[in-house]
Amino acid sequence: MRKIALLGATGSIGRQALEIVEAHPELELVAAASGSQDVTRLAPLTQVGGDLTELLDRAEPDIVLNAVVGFAGLPATLWALERGVTLALANKESLVAAGDLALAAQRRGGGSLLPVDSEHSALHQCLEGRGPESVESLVVTASGGPFRGKTRAELEDVTPAEALAHPTWSMGPKITVDSATLANKGLELIEAHFLFGLPYDRIEVVIHPTSVVHGLVRFRDGAALAHLGYPDMRVPISYALTYPERAATPVPSLDLAAGLTLEFSAPDLETFPLLSLARSAGERGGTYPCAFNAANEVAVAAFLDGRLPFLGIADAVADVLAAVDGAPARDLDDLVEADAQARRLLEPVA
Ligand SMILES: NC(=O)c1ccc[n+]([C@@H]2O[C@H](COP(=O)([O-])OP(=O)(O)OC[C@H]3O[C@@H](n4cnc5c(N)ncnc54)[C@H](OP(=O)(O)O)[C@@H]3O)[C@@H](O)[C@H]2O)c1
Repeated sequence: MRKIALLGATGSIGRQALEIVEAHPELELVAAASGSQDVTRLAPLTQVGGDLTELLDRAEPDIVLNAVVGFAGLPATLWALERGVTLALANKESLVAAGDLALAAQRRGGGSLLPVDSEHSALHQCLEGRGPESVESLVVTASGGPFRGKTRAELEDVTPAEALAHPTWSMGPKITVDSATLANKGLELIEAHFLFGLPYDRIEVVIHPTSVVHGLVRFRDGAALAHLGYPDMRVPISYALTYPERAATPVPSLDLAAGLTLEFSAPDLETFPLLSLARSAGERGGTYPCAFNAANEVAVAAFLDGRLPFLGIADAVADVLAAVDGAPARDLDDLVEADAQARRLLEPVA
């Protein structure tokens, strides 16, 4: 039996994770948490909001599936990594914000960090534990979101409803807007850097509209291994919860005979500047990725509330990155302060 603590149980990932857990008798849900919605009937131990590490202390899980959205997921990520408890990580924001601290916690704890993000799950599967020395580069694919092919001028009056209409994935509102701005791919670029230990100039992002190829690893011998499948988060969730077993899921495998064409192109960095901003925040290191994430969270919330135009999200993030010093965080207090400082800078729009 594997005891699972599911954080963010009421969200898009959380609900799909419940389906996976219910289908597998060897997975036992011991704890569930949400931010505000009722979860009392989901698991023996539950918590709504507050410090989720209190729930984890009581639950003593074998696996923490962190599917909380945003920086709020950080304490749970560090709790699992520090204790060597397997972390199935959907909450990319915590690894982006706390990368160095999170990896140091993992080294001390000695446990596994299994990505749930589909692209990183794909890369993890293609790599099969091989280190950066055998890899030429990693390729993270992006659907391009609902505004692929648009110009900046066409995006000036985009509404939240238009940004929330994702072409291939059905997800929570924050990540759906991040997909429309390509901030999500920026977060994933930084996430890939910390997960797989490659420098940024060896991590590419390509647009692939149908989201069939989730990730691709170019090896130094000239071979490239890709991971293919219909876009369905139950596959990477199941992979992380049952690793290394690869338990069955109800997701059909690809119908190749129906005619499958794979298209790839370069991202439009002029129309979607958040991808370049994320790359530069990642390359500068320190707390720049934390500031990128915090500013993006505040700006996305303001856009969804109608207080900021769509193009204003990137402007807000650029302003914050220009204003902070990005000094490395020595500890969690430093990191929490870097996050708070970035949020304070956006108080006028928050
Ligand atoms: N959805 C996807 O397909 C997908 C794919 C890859 C990665 N991810 C990542 O997975 C994470 C979750 O995404 P999602 O789409 O599932 O988001 P979502 O549908 O908005 O769900 C977010 C979950 O987090 C909970 N939550 C929010 N604030 C919290 C807090 N302060 N403390 C405890 N719980 C809190 C919410 O609880 P309430 O419902 O009570 O507010 C909800 O259960 C994000 O980091 C996202 O980037 C998602």
